[in-house]
Amino acid sequence: MLEGVRGPVSTSQKQDVLIASNSSEAIERIYGLIGDARGFTVKGRVLDSRGPDPLAGLTHTPDMLLLRVDAGSQAELEALSRYSSDERPPLIVIGDVNHAGCMRAAMQAGARDFLAEPVGKDDLLEAITRLASERRQASPAGQGQLTAFINGKGGSGATFLACNVAHLFAEVAQLNTVLLGLDTQFASLPRYLDVQQKRGLLEALDVADDLDGAAIGAYLARHESGLSLLACLQDGALLQQELLADRFDTLLELLLANFDRCVVDVPHALEPFSVHVLERADQIVLTVQQSVPSLHDATRMCDLMTRKLGVPPNRITVVVNRYHRSAAIELADIQRQFSNQPVACIPNDYRAVAESINVGVPIYSYAKRSAVTKSLIQLQEQLGGSTASSEKGFFPKIRLTG
Ligand SMILES: Nc1ncnc2c1ncn2[C@@H]1O[C@H](COP(=O)(O)OP(=O)(O)OP(=O)(O)O)[C@@H](O)[C@H]1O
Ligand SMILES: [Mg+2]
Repeated sequence: MLEGVRGPVSTSQKQDVLIASNSSEAIERIYGLIGDARGFTVKGRVLDSRGPDPLAGLTHTPDMLLLRVDAGSQAELEALSRYSSDERPPLIVIGDVNHAGCMRAAMQAGARDFLAEPVGKDDLLEAITRLASERRQASPAGQGQLTAFINGKGGSGATFLACNVAHLFAEVAQLNTVLLGLDTQFASLPRYLDVQQKRGLLEALDVADDLDGAAIGAYLARHESGLSLLACLQDGALLQQELLADRFDTLLELLLANFDRCVVDVPHALEPFSVHVLERADQIVLTVQQSVPSLHDATRMCDLMTRKLGVPPNRITVVVNRYHRSAAIELADIQRQFSNQPVACIPNDYRAVAESINVGVPIYSYAKRSAVTKSLIQLQEQLGGSTASSEKGFFPKIRLTG
C-alpha cells in the first residue's frame, strides 16, 4: 500500500487519492478509514526531510491529496505552495487545527479543507466525496450530455422515443451515443433494436467499480448504426436499487466520460436510479398524450421533478406523442399547461411505429419518410444533435414555446 502513484494515467473513473505524511503509522490509520471507499483508489507516501514534497517524482498527479501534518510539516506545505494551482491536486490537510503555523502554511498551499485529528471516518469520507464531485462538475471536458426520456403517464411512448432519438444521434448526427435502459422488469430496448446482448446492466453494476472506458465495452450491445446499448439482459429482475446507488453513479459517470451522448429510458416509477438520472440530466423529455389523464399525470410528474427533485424547469421539454390535430385536448391547452417548457409534437402513426417496433428496426431506417421520422429528426436537432440539411423542413414542424 505504501507507494507513490505510478504508471500511466488511469482511464478508470475511480479517483486516485494519495495520503502523504512523515509518519507511516498516520498513513496506515487514515488508510484504515478510506482504503476501501467505493469509487476511490487510495495510496500512501511516506515523506521525510530529504523528500518533503508529496508530489515529487510522481508520473501522474493524484486526483486529490490528503496531507497529514504535524509540527514538523512546514517543509511539506512549503513544497506544495511552490506549485501553481493548476499543477497541484485539491488538498485536504489533516492535523492539529490549533497549530497556527500549520494552518497558515496549509492555506498558502491552497488547502480546500482542514480536518482536525483524530479525524472520523464519516468526516473524511464526506470531504473526499465532496472534492470528487466538485472535480467532476468542474471538468466538463470529455463529459457527454445526458438526455432522459420519461413518460408523464405509462404507455405514452417514452421507450420508443428514447430509442429512436438515440438512434438518430448516432446515425444522423454521428454522435458517439449510448442508450441506457433502466427498466429492470420489462427490458424492451434490445428488442426494439434487434440486438443481442452478452451482458447487461446488472452484470455491469456488479463490476462497476472496476470498469474503465475500455472494459465497459464488454457490457454494451452494438447496433449497426454505431449506437451502443446497455439494458437489462433478462426481464423481471428485481433490484435493491438503494444498495447499488453508488455503483450506478460510477457507471453513469463512466458512460458520460466515454460517450458524447447518453440517452436514458427512465421508467415511470421514480426509483433511486431514475431519480439520480433525472437530477443529473442535461435535458429531460417528458412525454404526454392528448388526454385528460395523461395531461394530469404529466403535470404531476413535471411538478415532482421541478419541486421535489429541484430540476430547473427549462431542462424539461414536453413532447406531445401521437399528436393529432383534431384531438379534444389541443396543443394550445398543453402549451398553456406547460408554460415554462418548450412543447414539441410527434404525430400519431400507429402502423409505421408498430411495424418498426415489431421488426426491431428504428423508424429512421424502417420508414424514413414517415411523418414520425421527420418529427423525430427535428426533435433530436432540438435536443442538440444535428441533421443533414436535406432532412430539414418537413411537416409537421415541431412547435416550440417558452
Ligand atoms: N408516435 C406514435 N404513433 C403511434 N403509436 C405510437 C407512437 N409512439 C408510441 N406508439 C405506440 O405506443 C406503444 C407504447 O410505447 P412504448 O413502447 O414507447 O412504451 P412506453 O410508453 O415506454 O411504455 P411503459 O410506460 O410501459 O414503459 C408502442 O407499442 C407503440 O406502438
Ligand atoms: Mg417504457
